[in-house]
Amino acid sequence: MFDHLSSLPPDPILGLLASYRADENPGKIDLGVGVYKDEAGHTAVLQAVKEAETRLLQSEETKAYIGPAGTPGFNTVMQELVLGAGHPALLGGRVRSAQTPGGCGALRVLAELINRAKAGATVWVSDPTWANHVPLLGNAGLHIKSYPYYDRATSSLQFDKMVETLKNVGEGDVVLFHACCHNPCGADLTREQWKVLAEMAQKQGFTPFIDMAYQGFGESLGDDAYGLRLMAESVPEMLVAASCSKNFGLYRERVGLAMVIYANGEAADKGQSQMLSAIRGNYSMPPSHGAAIVESILTDAGLKANWEAELTEMRERINSLRAGLVEGLVAVDAAGEFGFIRQQKGMFSFLGISLEQVQQLQKDYSIYMVDSSRISIAGLSSNNMEYFCRAVASVL
Ligand code: LMR
Repeated sequence: MFDHLSSLPPDPILGLLASYRADENPGKIDLGVGVYKDEAGHTAVLQAVKEAETRLLQSEETKAYIGPAGTPGFNTVMQELVLGAGHPALLGGRVRSAQTPGGCGALRVLAELINRAKAGATVWVSDPTWANHVPLLGNAGLHIKSYPYYDRATSSLQFDKMVETLKNVGEGDVVLFHACCHNPCGADLTREQWKVLAEMAQKQGFTPFIDMAYQGFGESLGDDAYGLRLMAESVPEMLVAASCSKNFGLYRERVGLAMVIYANGEAADKGQSQMLSAIRGNYSMPPSHGAAIVESILTDAGLKANWEAELTEMRERINSLRAGLVEGLVAVDAAGEFGFIRQQKGMFSFLGISLEQVQQLQKDYSIYMVDSSRISIAGLSSNNMEYFCRAVASVL
């Protein structure tokens, strides 16, 4: 049965991990997968998470199934984290959600829901977008098209071109936006630009689908959700995939939220029954542990404050690395203008170098980044910054 299957190349992001691990150079640098690292290059478990786990170990009384939607407590606190407590959509009883295995689980479940509502619907994604968006949405049966977003020549957002393309998109189509910390380019929409897009969605009738994988990594928990919340006030229907991988550091626990805002309560109940059936026919129900940690943190004022302080520390470290990288590249006279890296947000930026240069960095310097030259900034530190900047200058 399987003899005729051909081998596929490794995943463009996850494949880098294996090559990095196999590299014996002690000076190797991993700027591949988007995982936060501290100054020592370690991805530590957050203290707030450790504390919540300790409490859970004492208080958990059963391992019985939690059902396709996950726990009501998790869903409630996450809806409020994402939308802000008291958001009109919440007060109007129009929001339904499910706890999912990571943001990927959320994207896939929502894609299946869209496909049930309109088979083969078109989803517009930014060019570029996260490499896994295309298989996650496309394999659910959706048709993928792209809108211009980032201009590699100027290392900046091309909003006019984005609007030019999206102005022809109407009812029945879905447009995927990155809430903040755009993956892979780090260039985010301004508040003014979100206002323009929210008006377009309202007038033209397309359905916004917002992926929020990095809430708290850009400016703050609230600021990073600005566009999402505005959009949710402007349109009758909207989809949100949220991830707790990065902001809670719960990567391997797989915790996410698939949330839908419906036009009214009746549509919400029908839609939720479809989403739960899609989940049941897919992975049946989500794992419990990671979401229980999130619920425990967000329902305890002390733990929540500790978590927010740790999140702020991660964000500030990345921002200072961004500044350090720009200064470091200037200091070694690297050919080119890299000031844009300082303005961008979140874990990623494109360095803006060619594939050959990316490959040379890997071969000659054991520096690992995605072929597109996307770097995961947190992989840098004061220990490897100069080595990295000199290596980049040498391949330019
Ligand atoms: C990334 O883009 O590196 C992360 O979102 C991890 C992943 O699954 O690709």
